[in-house]
Amino acid sequence: MNNKNFYISTPIYYPSGNPHMGHAYSSIIADIFARFKRLEGYEVLFLTGTDEHGLKIQREAEKNNKDPKKFCDELSEKFKDLTKILNLSNDDFIRTTEKRHYKSVEKIWNRLVKSGDIYLDKYSGWYSISDEAYYDEDEIEEINGKKISKSSGSIVDWVEEESYFFKLSAWSNKLLDLYNKNKDFILPVSRRNEVIKFVEKGLKDLSVSRTSFTWGIPVPNNNKHIIYVWLDALTNYLSALNFSDDEKKYNKFWPADVHIIGKDILRFHAIYWPAFLLAANLPLPKKVFGHGWILSDDKKMSKSIGNILDPIEIVNIYGVDQLRYYLVKEVSLGNDGSISMQNLKNCINNDLANNYGNLCQRVFSFIKKNCSNKIPKDYKLENIDTKLLDKLKKNLPNLIKLINNQNLNEFIKSVVQYSFEANKYFNDSEPWKEKKENPQRMRTILFVACEQIKNISILLNPIIPISTNKVLDTLNVNPKKRLIKEINNLKCFEHDKELKDSDILFNKIENDN
Ligand code: MSP
Repeated sequence: MNNKNFYISTPIYYPSGNPHMGHAYSSIIADIFARFKRLEGYEVLFLTGTDEHGLKIQREAEKNNKDPKKFCDELSEKFKDLTKILNLSNDDFIRTTEKRHYKSVEKIWNRLVKSGDIYLDKYSGWYSISDEAYYDEDEIEEINGKKISKSSGSIVDWVEEESYFFKLSAWSNKLLDLYNKNKDFILPVSRRNEVIKFVEKGLKDLSVSRTSFTWGIPVPNNNKHIIYVWLDALTNYLSALNFSDDEKKYNKFWPADVHIIGKDILRFHAIYWPAFLLAANLPLPKKVFGHGWILSDDKKMSKSIGNILDPIEIVNIYGVDQLRYYLVKEVSLGNDGSISMQNLKNCINNDLANNYGNLCQRVFSFIKKNCSNKIPKDYKLENIDTKLLDKLKKNLPNLIKLINNQNLNEFIKSVVQYSFEANKYFNDSEPWKEKKENPQRMRTILFVACEQIKNISILLNPIIPISTNKVLDTLNVNPKKRLIKEINNLKCFEHDKELKDSDILFNKIENDN
């Protein structure tokens, strides 16, 4: 069996309002990893979608005087549009209102009942509709007469109703075992420690059904109860594999390789989800990666605070590759990071326009003028040439490791450095001086510059796919050869073909102040 399969997911988003930069961030990160694995030769399943049930959505639909399904249809479409606008390479888009999802949730529920992990009782405690989460007394505080969750700041209400419970308490030790044995299960390490501390305090059984509203999946055989929206939502990762009735896709892709999520939903993915799966006797995902928040004015973006940055607006002004690059270059994955329009402009100008863009443009126009617009083939590599190419080649395993450890920032830093060095190589080698005396040397320099541009473009392809594909198109590199294993394969070029025309890759952004 081909074990080069890779399954990666984003969280599924609440279609309670328009998508914002925080949603875009989760999706772009997952997309970059998905694309990178494809370049490594993996068959990838990249999933995203919308989380449509629960009281939060029902309330929002009521506020808008809409039937919840209609409300979700409209907003889910906006999240689908965003996948196109951000140039995501997702293979599927799941909605929790789909039939395939209902069937999977029912199947999981029935398995949990069968294993004896579900019982009927009465819940009394705090609930946040905005987080769709239960909180213990010590997790809430009172501010201005309002009870709020200490961790999220959202309002909590007192709830008392009949409820089915999941025996979460019984799984504490198994979960601690899991975290200890699989050090990579929760990343980054700081998040892992948070989760361990929480579980070590001991877990209470979890209320997994509600009777006070109707918008959700009914409990099989007792439709007075609606299944807790997080048990419903988490199951999406299985529904997309047709878990309910198709072994083939499930066997091929489960367990998932990594769930990319924001740190605010770690508890659900690192505690509840593995506990549900353990109880249902199903294999566990290999990794849960909790990224930090994108801050706007140093606060988490949210509708209630009103500090939302609109990704679509930014894409329209600056371009999608520019936004993708900026978000992953400037925000250290795993930590919170503030974004600003000034930094975005600097980043586009310095890294993209002046460095990578400039390198490509200079080399291509030199070839056009001096080599009949074809990549020279009669090259003769000298020490300085092999030194440049080998440095990248030798570091390749390390670069791959950085990506597989989700160390995107170090990865980008290294690649930008290669681009900087290639620019320097081109300057220092002065091909314009060799033109008369030693044309073969000139041709060698141009060949090496093209080879290094090809290598850098392949490495940056998952991050800025549109621009790097333009460059690889200009170089006539066959799309099938845009793979990690073709880095430093000196035989990728078709030397008889002229370079394709290329326009400016990245426009410099003028400062308006
Ligand atoms: N529906 C749940 C997820 C269910 S997954 C089985 C949910 N949805 S959400 O729409 O509220 O958020 C989805 C993701 O967006 C989360 O990973 C969250 O961390 C991320 N972001 C929302 N705001 C954010 C920022 N300001 N910054 C970065 N990401 C944040 O939670």
